[in-house]
Amino acid sequence: MTDRKTLNLRETGAASIPVLLLCGLLLWPTVASAVIKGVCSDCHTMHNSQDGSAMADFDGETGPNQALTRGSCYGCHAQANGQALVSVGTASIPQVMHTEGTDLAGGNFAYITGAKGSGASDAKGHNISSLTGIDDTISALPGGIRQSFHEDFIVNTSNLTCAGTNGCHGYRYAAASLPDGISGAHHNNVDGKLETADKHSNSYRFLTGVTGLEDADWQYTVGSNDHNEYSARTTPITLGCGTNSCHGGAVGIKPPDGTISQYCATCHGNFHTLTSGSSDGIGVDATSPFIRHPTDLALPNDGEYGAVTTYSLIAPVGRTGALPDTPGSTANSTDSDAVTCLSCHVAHASDYPDMLRWDYLNDCDAGTANADCGCFSCHTTKDD
Ligand code: HEC
Ligand code: HEC
Ligand code: HEC
Ligand code: HEC
Ligand code: HEC
Repeated sequence: MTDRKTLNLRETGAASIPVLLLCGLLLWPTVASAVIKGVCSDCHTMHNSQDGSAMADFDGETGPNQALTRGSCYGCHAQANGQALVSVGTASIPQVMHTEGTDLAGGNFAYITGAKGSGASDAKGHNISSLTGIDDTISALPGGIRQSFHEDFIVNTSNLTCAGTNGCHGYRYAAASLPDGISGAHHNNVDGKLETADKHSNSYRFLTGVTGLEDADWQYTVGSNDHNEYSARTTPITLGCGTNSCHGGAVGIKPPDGTISQYCATCHGNFHTLTSGSSDGIGVDATSPFIRHPTDLALPNDGEYGAVTTYSLIAPVGRTGALPDTPGSTANSTDSDAVTCLSCHVAHASDYPDMLRWDYLNDCDAGTANADCGCFSCHTTKDD
């Protein structure tokens, strides 16, 4: 946070840099996600030319870009420098690839390339080919449910993108590049508690159809009452092409009930769904024994789960009742809370294999207490 970069139209004016940095620092405590504010020229260039030089120059790019922005998605969001949040005018751009010590909630693609962490590894996250290179180990989509009519366009490791048809953010029927897929999301961005989720802009983090409570600084600061809140169900359902379909009509692919786990399951369906047709899923019903770890399943209120009372920042639960107005520090109190994909994984990349939130291979020893092992936050007797 000490050296946050301020991008400006006349960025080369050396004398103004300390002032801009100071402004950035003073503004820092109040920068929060909001409908975009700020002068157009901070983010847009009309001709991509000023004094004969390219203005679409974020992150050393030259442009021009669709929607006349001064950066591409990567130019704005993956600047790969030492800052998790980069100021542009009064706005703050959340970074998905950077080397600052603090990561934002989604994780950090720099773990895949090795720019940060214990060394480069494709297993540490979602490989976006043009950002991280493709995953050389995984070729097909793990847990993907293949239907004959999906063969032509099913997402795989070489075509996964940030947004659009083979991506995650925005409308997933449109091309990934600007302005398609994301177009209109930034200027209409709704913050805080998102329960409607019928457009990209009023969905959790532009993940169309996902509900949730957005932390204002993407968890740059984080604490027991300062974090995102995820939506979950008490019981998982069968995801398929019928009633509970992920084909969201006019808005494209979306999770039928708005939960983050159903959202992951729009690609990794077999790791979430109950058994049906060609997918064996997590088992035939939502009761133990399961054949894969359940998600969108409420924690029982007895047994070892009865001891879960505190919201864990290592292994966060999802809320099955109404979303709270403010982030909560308790778990499993008024309504049951549920295990979600994000209880164990981050969304972009982490420093651990399989994109896990903790060092599963070294920290999770049955019979040995270890606060760094997230499994113990729900399986509270397995460290005894
Ligand atoms: C000109 C710079 C710029 C470009 C280009 C840009 N973004 Fe953003 N983006 C921002 C800013 C600034 C914010 C923070 C908005 C806010 O505070 O509400 C943001 C926020 C976001 C968020 C978080 C929304 C939320 O609810 O917190 C996502 C997701 C996102 N952008 C995705 C993308 C994708 C995908 C692309 C490319 C298709 C893209 N952005 C292109 C500047 C940009
Ligand atoms: C902090 C960065 C930022 C600022 C400031 C900003 N924009 Fe944008 N704008 C974006 C991004 C990023 C996109 C493309 C992605 C999208 O549409 O969500 C965009 C898209 C647009 C679009 C096409 C999509 C839409 O929502 O209509 C228009 C028109 C637009 N901006 C106009 C303006 C004008 C006019 C201003 C100044 C009054 C302005 N913008 C200021 C970031 C910004
Ligand atoms: C748009 C489709 C799509 C969505 C949505 C999606 N994934 Fe993936 N995921 C992929 C693909 C393709 C791969 C294989 C490529 C790779 O590993 O880089 C993958 C790989 C993974 C891996 C293995 C990473 C590795 O290299 O070992 C994990 C873990 C994972 N996804 C979890 C999630 C979680 C959690 C969510 C929801 C937050 C999610 N995925 C949402 C497409 C998707
Ligand atoms: C957010 C809470 C949560 C976390 C974190 C969690 N689990 Fe679970 N786990 C559950 C719930 C809920 C069940 C199902 C309980 C039931 O209905 O019997 C379960 C069930 C299981 C089962 C038994 C499945 C069966 O057939 O009954 C195993 C084994 C398991 N978990 C292992 C793990 C491991 C290993 C980790 C860490 C990688 C982990 N869990 C992390 C909540 C969690
Ligand atoms: C209880 C913790 C836990 C939960 C919840 C969980 N995962 Fe995993 N996931 C793991 C672990 C541990 C691995 C490593 C492989 C294994 O143990 O089977 C893994 C591996 C993966 C992989 C990589 C598989 C491969 O072939 O490399 C994907 C993809 C994945 N998970 C997606 C998901 C999705 C999607 C969800 C939600 C529907 C989810 N996970 C929920 C713990 C979890």
